Amino acid sequence: LFGFNKKVSGLNFKPIEPSDVDDVIVPKGYKYEVVAAYEDVINKAGDTFGFNSDFTQYFPINGSSNHGLLWVNHEYSSDIFVHGAPDANGKYSAKQIEKMLYVQGGSIIEVKGDKKGGWKLVSDSTIARRVSGLTPFDVTGPARGSKTMAGATTVQGTFANCSGGKTLWNTVLSAEENYEDTCEAAGLNENHYGWIVEIDPFDPNFKVRKHTALGRFHHENAAMGLTKDGHVAVYMGDDVKDACVYKFVSKDKYVESAGRANSKLLEEGTLYVANMKKGQWVPMTLETVQAAIKGKADLEAKYQTQADVLVYADEASLLIGGTPTDRPEDVEISPFDKTIFIAHTNNDKHGNFHGHITRFIEDNNDLGSLTFDFEIFAAGGKQSGFSAPDNLTFDSNANLWTVTDISSSSLNKGIHKHFKNNGLFVIPTVAYKNVREEEVGEAYQFASGPIESEMTGPCFTPDETTLFLAVQHPGEGSKDAKNPTSMWPHRKGDTMPRPGVIAITGF
Ligand code: FEO
Ligand code: CA
Ligand code: CA
Ligand code: CA
Repeated sequence: LFGFNKKVSGLNFKPIEPSDVDDVIVPKGYKYEVVAAYEDVINKAGDTFGFNSDFTQYFPINGSSNHGLLWVNHEYSSDIFVHGAPDANGKYSAKQIEKMLYVQGGSIIEVKGDKKGGWKLVSDSTIARRVSGLTPFDVTGPARGSKTMAGATTVQGTFANCSGGKTLWNTVLSAEENYEDTCEAAGLNENHYGWIVEIDPFDPNFKVRKHTALGRFHHENAAMGLTKDGHVAVYMGDDVKDACVYKFVSKDKYVESAGRANSKLLEEGTLYVANMKKGQWVPMTLETVQAAIKGKADLEAKYQTQADVLVYADEASLLIGGTPTDRPEDVEISPFDKTIFIAHTNNDKHGNFHGHITRFIEDNNDLGSLTFDFEIFAAGGKQSGFSAPDNLTFDSNANLWTVTDISSSSLNKGIHKHFKNNGLFVIPTVAYKNVREEEVGEAYQFASGPIESEMTGPCFTPDETTLFLAVQHPGEGSKDAKNPTSMWPHRKGDTMPRPGVIAITGF
């Protein structure tokens, strides 16, 4: 119906021009509608949709591409639009903190499409629910109950949920990224945040959990695949300037028939960091770290157990030869050849203002390989037409769908003026079907976001007739709640912009 998976590949549209309009712009023949926005009631119990929607993941109900659960990350709150500013001493009230924690985390919403490509939120759903900064989480893996975790086996809540991924056993992984501000405001232990968390959208009785074996840093995402010998591999970026790219490989093998019991695989294994100069995945074990810090008393005191290595993974990785990179954001595994695409969004410390997309080629195209090579697949800038690549997703023709995250303060000025508002681009990664060789690596703009927003979390339904996409922080630069710079989604009677999730369909 909509052509995403027609024989003309992902290029079955006429690219749009950059736009500075306060709306989502899509190509001719396509349309969008808002599925859910901040504060919409999502279930019979009266729970409401969180703020600043990010990663989305569609889970079909009975295999349907017209009825499913949609997981949506909620990354951060806002003084101006959610709970007001702190007092003169910089302190938030208990009520403000409760709201700050509630609007972050994730929403599980029930969504239904009609045959004409219209999508609706089931607002009286009995299966929709919230997971938030107030939800108790179990802790798994080597850091569970450790001294560096203050002995914790359960912790309060998840927040700062940026991107994520889907497991092979139909649960969602959500990545805790910039957790510091909320920890500080709410007086929470910082070592309890910065993890990959797992949730089963279908089962409220599945204990939501934080997997410490995957390390603690400013997690952007978690892209899961299988090694040639059947172990689970998870690729992850640490979205910080001069930070590393990671891979976790499970100790045990994936057993398809075991279903959700495979969650155990994320509790034991080896975390590796990429040394891009040597093309090596360096294991982050207590042994490798202790060998690297021998004779340095302060570091020897810090890294005494594997839990210490995992809790301070971002520092340990640099000690053992991990390569600092330009803010590794989303990572995706190509469905075509298992090469790994990494959005390096930018790094003003090194004059990389437009960012690039890096491609790792694992030796033998095996996700379990401990050696790899790499290339810069596409570079941001005026020629390519995009800047600051962030979330990525593939369609089944190996076209890479890339959203951009030019910061609100840089938008529409200086070297960023050509790009106008943040957008969504399609970049073919392989000449396949009707994609010509010269189109590979070229970016074609498919959508443009409202003023001072970024679009996040692109996710296709299985039949690729609908693309879900989040619109995050429209009007973020507003100084005055009564006079916001954006009013998206322009709902009747509304007085403020609302982050939300849209469904894009076409004819
Ligand atoms: Fe939350 Fe790295 O973007
Ligand atoms: Ca991001
Ligand atoms: Ca992604
Ligand atoms: Ca970003």
